[in-house]
Amino acid sequence: MKKIFIFYSLIILTVFGFIYGCSEVKNDLVMAPSSAFHGDGWLNTVSANFHGKYIASNSWDINGCKSCHGADFSGGTAKASCLTCHENGPDACNTCHGNQEHIYPPRSLFGNTLNTQTGVGAHEQHMTNDTTQRYSAVVDCEQCHIPLTGFSDSNHIKKNQSFATVVFGDLARKTTEGVTPNPQWDRSTQTCTNVYCHGTFKNGNQSAEPKFTDPTSVRCGSCHGDPVTGNPLPGGTHPTLAKCYLCHGGVIDSSGVIINQSLHINGVVNFSTIK
Ligand code: HEC
Ligand code: HEC
Ligand code: HEC
Ligand code: HEC
Ligand code: HEC
Ligand code: HEC
Repeated sequence: MKKIFIFYSLIILTVFGFIYGCSEVKNDLVMAPSSAFHGDGWLNTVSANFHGKYIASNSWDINGCKSCHGADFSGGTAKASCLTCHENGPDACNTCHGNQEHIYPPRSLFGNTLNTQTGVGAHEQHMTNDTTQRYSAVVDCEQCHIPLTGFSDSNHIKKNQSFATVVFGDLARKTTEGVTPNPQWDRSTQTCTNVYCHGTFKNGNQSAEPKFTDPTSVRCGSCHGDPVTGNPLPGGTHPTLAKCYLCHGGVIDSSGVIINQSLHINGVVNFSTIK
């Protein structure tokens, strides 16, 4: 395995994914229906004995394959390389999650792609560059997951756990005047509570419970203001939406549209001089 997969952070990983090109499973190859060693169906994606399914049902362990297919998966004593099909190696991030463009779900483990499925949820809303879909700047993986140094990081792929570990980062825990969040992920209800970003700040909606698998649970008013009317007033003496720009002009315009996502939900209240 080339060193290109040993990176400092997931952000860099994502960026480098574009530069080096992501692992592409070549699907124009004529596949033999079976492997003499592994048996029928090993190379047939719809077979119960398909190697991908075998790996998924064995704690996603591909290290065991190395003993015969080589430490770099290029053939080893089996003289059969994984790289003929998995161009960048089977340990490339998007072999198991994401796609050619990105490594976050969808696709999630076991091929799930619906945002109503826990592993997929609202990744897209947090990660996309499409500012019309978001209220904030792109949220780093580290705000919700432990940073990984690469595929073999001991925090990645734990035996007997086929779902991600959620550990919140600095922004989710950001203390504002007198309010200290204690962010929690509840897998059974797919909700987050006590997160800075979603309302746990001074004058925010501190009891907000955004649901990861229901993007409509987050809208103008759900984190601060009135969730029903969508009025983003944080309480106190704030005036109507059309006036916010008078004091928060770097963030919002006179039509009440967020014009700079990176200054919204960034850990501080941003002011600018009255226009
Ligand atoms: C004990 C040795 C051994 C282990 C461990 C092993 N393999 Fe193999 N594998 C072989 C041999 C030998 C061949 C070549 C003969 C054949 O195709 O049946 C092979 C062939 C294959 C092929 C077919 C390659 C081709 O181009 O036709 C795939 C795919 C494969 N193995 C996947 C895996 C995966 C995935 C794992 C780990 C879950 C694994 N193998 C573990 C010995 C092994
Ligand atoms: C002959 C082509 C071929 C070879 C050789 C091959 N694979 Fe695969 N592999 C595939 C295809 C096709 C898929 C399914 C891709 C998909 O569903 O998008 C796959 C899927 C996988 C998955 C993903 C499982 C999942 O559900 O997300 C893993 C992990 C994997 N292979 C590991 C290996 C390893 C390790 C080797 C070598 C030991 C290997 N593969 C060799 C074709 C191959
Ligand atoms: C062979 C399949 C496979 C490959 C390849 C893979 N992952 Fe994962 N990944 C998993 C599984 C399984 C989980 C679920 C977590 C667990 O089991 O602990 C996971 C979880 C994650 C998570 C969620 C946080 C966590 O630690 O649980 C991140 C982030 C992640 N992977 C990033 C990566 C990156 C970056 C790469 C490439 C360097 C990569 N993955 C390659 C299978 C894979
Ligand atoms: C806003 C929080 C958040 C951010 C940001 C985030 N994730 Fe996740 N991620 C989650 C949650 C919640 C789950 C589901 C955990 C569970 O199943 O208990 C998850 C699950 C996953 C899984 C496992 C999917 C599965 O099939 O179970 C992977 C892989 C993953 N995330 C990768 C990433 C990567 C890579 C990034 C950054 C590019 C990222 N995530 C950013 C919250 C986030
Ligand atoms: C007259 C100036 C002014 C206008 C107009 C104004 N704000 Fe503020 N805003 C402030 C000040 C000053 C703070 C910091 C208050 C503090 O620290 O208690 C603040 C803080 C906030 C906060 C953080 C929560 C808090 O109370 O500290 C939010 C959210 C907010 N404003 C949203 C809005 C929205 C939405 C509008 C338009 C409906 C708006 N503001 C209009 C001056 C203004
Ligand atoms: C995902 C939660 C969330 C949503 C949705 C949301 N906000 Fe905010 N908003 C925040 C947070 C967090 C702050 C910063 C509070 C702090 O640091 O004290 C903030 C602050 C603001 C401020 C003060 C200036 C600033 O950014 O520092 C304005 C104005 C504002 N929001 C307007 C809006 C408007 C208008 C909408 C709907 C279009 C909206 N917000 C939707 C979470 C949200």
